[in-house]
Amino acid sequence: MKRISLNIGKALGAVTKDQVYAWEPKAKASIDTLQNGTGAGNDFLGWLHLPSSITDAELTDIEQTAEVLRSRCDVVVAIGIGGSYLGTKAVLEALNNSFDLLLSDRKNPVVLYAGQNIGEDYLYELSEILKGKQFGLINISKSGTTTEPALAFRVLKKQLEDAVGKEEAKKRIVAITDARKGALRTLADQEGYKTFVIPDNVGGRFSVLTPVGLLPIAVAGINIRDLVAGAASIEKTSGADVPFADNISALYAATRNALYQSGKKIEILANFHPKLHYIGEWWKQLYGESEGKEHKGIFPASVDLTTDLHSMGQWIQDGERTIFETVISVEAPNHTFLVPDDPADLDGLNFLAGKRVDYVNKNAELGTQLAHVDGGVPNIKITLPEVNAYYIGQLFYFFELGCGISGYLLGVNPFDQPGVEAYKKNMFALLNKPGYEKESEAIKARLK
Ligand code: PA5
Repeated sequence: MKRISLNIGKALGAVTKDQVYAWEPKAKASIDTLQNGTGAGNDFLGWLHLPSSITDAELTDIEQTAEVLRSRCDVVVAIGIGGSYLGTKAVLEALNNSFDLLLSDRKNPVVLYAGQNIGEDYLYELSEILKGKQFGLINISKSGTTTEPALAFRVLKKQLEDAVGKEEAKKRIVAITDARKGALRTLADQEGYKTFVIPDNVGGRFSVLTPVGLLPIAVAGINIRDLVAGAASIEKTSGADVPFADNISALYAATRNALYQSGKKIEILANFHPKLHYIGEWWKQLYGESEGKEHKGIFPASVDLTTDLHSMGQWIQDGERTIFETVISVEAPNHTFLVPDDPADLDGLNFLAGKRVDYVNKNAELGTQLAHVDGGVPNIKITLPEVNAYYIGQLFYFFELGCGISGYLLGVNPFDQPGVEAYKKNMFALLNKPGYEKESEAIKARLK
């Protein structure tokens, strides 16, 4: 099997190779710190050896539970937000048919999402569409107290129980949460739901390779063993003993920190493969929550190209020169589709007749890279041999390890997220949540 690769050649210019390689000792030390568990956030390093340590029995349990849901349900709603949602969405968008919902010969349940927002219209429309359908729920919340998924679960649990009765509902609800504590754990134990554990030492944004991601992904009919094997292959080739030039996570972390020091404050993750849109969303949570601390950190943004060349393209080419671009390039599409010949040739496209659509895309990609680099946007390129579960697994682990190393190079704890509490405190105060009386008074006085 091939491996995803990293090319930093087109980032050199904004920074020199020496500036990147100056980070080598610290990057290697960061890997050691991660491996030895001696750095900040060391109680959240469970993700580091997840791919190699997940057992056949654990995978089988996930697959068998997925099979139960698949046999009973036409629709499975994955309820969760942030790290309890984005990994699944990224994999399903990347690997499912783009027009999945319209397939007439579908073999897999439709996976829908809830609890990733508080949209009343969204929840209403979801609830309406589920009426008369055989549906099930995977409720995913590490803390078990996150408002968005708790609200969605309350609504959908009732709807399911009303539709099929409590006993059947129990067979169609799976809870993925903490081993011992939290509201969801208590409820799941009370109701007797099948449960899976999110390990204590795995943070939400690093949890895609736990049942959080693996169960809904398996429900969608995707081979989770390939995903895990891909991640394991990068885990194996990323130790501190691996030469720096070959250690893609370390090299990526070093390059982005060198660029950050040179004034590049924004990293745009770009893809030329529309199915990778949610990989960008997953990556933004991973890097944004891990590094945006103590008033520092690269701002992670993402674009889908060529689509966004017709909107954000202007800014990227000509705006403030504080950005660099990391492009996910896919070597080979999964299908072949040729540009047809048209005798009238009114659109003037006959010069492309007989060529693959990907030939056009690849030249757009190359042309964009050259234009952006010429315009002062350093370019890092990650190449995926193709879009399949194995290489997506590689990509996940590559980014996760790169994030751990990069956070340490930046000098922050990459494994906490104290900043996400601020909005919750205000929201609970405004909603008069019991226990927030003092905050309620203070916030209301402020708003007078
Ligand atoms: O990175 C994180 O841990 C958070 O953003 C969580 O993913 C998100 O808040 C969901 O939390 P929970 O799974 O506890 O409901």
